[in-house]
Amino acid sequence: KDRGELRIHENLDELGTDLAEYIAELSEASVKERGVFTIAISGGSLIGLMGRLCEAPYNKTVDWAKWYIFWADERVVAKTHADSNYKLAKDGLLSKVPVLPSHVNSINDSVSAEEAADDYEFHVRQLVKTRTINVSDISDCPKFDLILLGMGPDGHVASLFPNHPVLDEKDEWVTFITDSPKSPPERITFTLPVINSASNVAVVVTGESKAEAVHLATDDVGADCLSLPARLVRPVRGKLVWFLDKLAASKLDGS
Ligand code: 6PG
Repeated sequence: KDRGELRIHENLDELGTDLAEYIAELSEASVKERGVFTIAISGGSLIGLMGRLCEAPYNKTVDWAKWYIFWADERVVAKTHADSNYKLAKDGLLSKVPVLPSHVNSINDSVSAEEAADDYEFHVRQLVKTRTINVSDISDCPKFDLILLGMGPDGHVASLFPNHPVLDEKDEWVTFITDSPKSPPERITFTLPVINSASNVAVVVTGESKAEAVHLATDDVGADCLSLPARLVRPVRGKLVWFLDKLAASKLDGS
């Protein structure tokens, strides 16, 4: 059963420190190997939990100019809108470290969700062609160095919600939905094949409201839970790590 490494932390402070250390180490390894670090991030509480990266020593030791930043999912709203993951990340993180604005790959916010998804996939394809983004050894999928995900209490990750047809997407890398149960309704999202082709995937989950979903996503459970989006996160060749606080881990078997 390879449902990943569980890193359970006493509190958010410890989790934030471990997460920053983890990201900094992966960045260093990727830059050493390929000269770049390709990272996709999600929205929600994740951005705040990454905050330690803006502080010493990481603000100085991380090779920010080598980062290429993508979105695992994004809300189809203006980049200036309070719901925009780009805005959240920019205000909370990216504006505080010397990333290159030209390496921040945000979505086209002036078109429909469908077009935004197509544009984003096209853009990712260009960067795969030039090998800025690595390519999977077993499919033609992009192989991001790291994809960071949050998880909702319903077990959704990125904008892949329970029972949604996009969970079955096999061909597209980026797809769109217009019926997100979590507002705002229009979103673009990486598909499972892309998430599962990454070198590293981390799911960052805190709080008691998510304890049941963490249990269903990682423990041995009945067949009816097998299609929980978070449970479908299983990097084929990559490494999966769960960053949990004590509360999110409180319903795990054996806890
Ligand atoms: C989004 C996210 C989404 C998020 C989870 C968890 O844009 O809505 O990418 O997948 O990560 O909903 O959000 P919280 O950590 O805020 O609960």
